Amino acid sequence: MDTSRILIVGAYGQLGKALQAQYPDAIAVDRDSFDMTDWEAVRNYDWSKVDVILNAAAYTNVDGAETAEGRTAAWKINATGPGYLSQVATEHGLVLVHVSSDYVFDGTKAPHTEAEPYSPLSVYGAAKAAGDIAVSATKRHYILRTTWLIGNGPNFVRTMMGLAAKNISPTVVSDQVGRLTFTSTLVAAIDHLLQSQAWGGIYNVTNSGEPASWADITRQIFKDLGRDDLSVTDSSTEKYFADKIASGVRIAPRPLGSEMDLSKLEATGLKLTDWKSELATYIQDELKEE
Ligand SMILES: NC(=O)c1ccc[n+]([C@@H]2O[C@H](COP(=O)([O-])OP(=O)(O)OC[C@H]3O[C@@H](n4cnc5c(N)ncnc54)[C@H](OP(=O)(O)O)[C@@H]3O)[C@@H](O)[C@H]2O)c1
Repeated sequence: MDTSRILIVGAYGQLGKALQAQYPDAIAVDRDSFDMTDWEAVRNYDWSKVDVILNAAAYTNVDGAETAEGRTAAWKINATGPGYLSQVATEHGLVLVHVSSDYVFDGTKAPHTEAEPYSPLSVYGAAKAAGDIAVSATKRHYILRTTWLIGNGPNFVRTMMGLAAKNISPTVVSDQVGRLTFTSTLVAAIDHLLQSQAWGGIYNVTNSGEPASWADITRQIFKDLGRDDLSVTDSSTEKYFADKIASGVRIAPRPLGSEMDLSKLEATGLKLTDWKSELATYIQDELKEE
């Protein structure tokens, strides 16, 4: 694979930055240089220099997507944009790699297989599902369904590390259960599928290990930080958001079961690392950066 012929769309988000680290000679574009929701810009791009599109761009504000403005943006970026990429991939014979989410499901049938029918609860989830369908229309596609992404950007682990630094013992939801996915793992999965020329289609990708709630993950973060003095109070999702909802803030419904079945990806020969060991490494790296 000639990695200089890879186009990374949304190259400065959490995943985009990790893809740039993996493929330093790839063509990296941000929204200003390549807005994937602008059909003229997408159609007129010089595709003769590209073999593979890695789409790391998305509208990821799940609560923002419930507002009038956010709903339009979420559909444009998560469904219309991927549809445009799918069209040019077909026209120019390109491989299209796209990233999806457990939010395309209602969370009642975890562990989710790649064959589970769509059942999104939220605007974000519905738009992501529409994006999957649009991308699956092009022949050479990989759709990677991931959960709870942790990389170089605002994310849950950084938020909890920030609370620990302020000596705060938080209340955290304990009825959403899944696994963290580190961007390093997602990038390794993308690279593995491309290098091995695995069958196209949908693949679930998260770290492996025992699924856990956000509250339990917070306990693990505090343990890794050596902060035995901090505690975590469990809350249901409903109770956690009750005050915000009562004050008129729109909160997206969340799937409670986010565990993904990883057997299809593992059958291609990729060994997925345990989220707890990746978390320990991530925390050590974050502490070194401080
Ligand atoms: N974060 C999670 O927990 C999570 C969980 C499951 C699945 N996923 C999926 O994983 C993928 C990567 O997520 P992430 O956390 O890395 O996202 P992210 O950090 O929010 O980055 C998204 C990037 O997309 C760019 N973008 C937005 N609209 C664009 C447009 N019209 N054209 C080009 N670029 C555009 C953004 O640029 P601007 O900064 O200019 O807006 C941003 O750099 C997404 O498909 C997401 O749905 C994420």
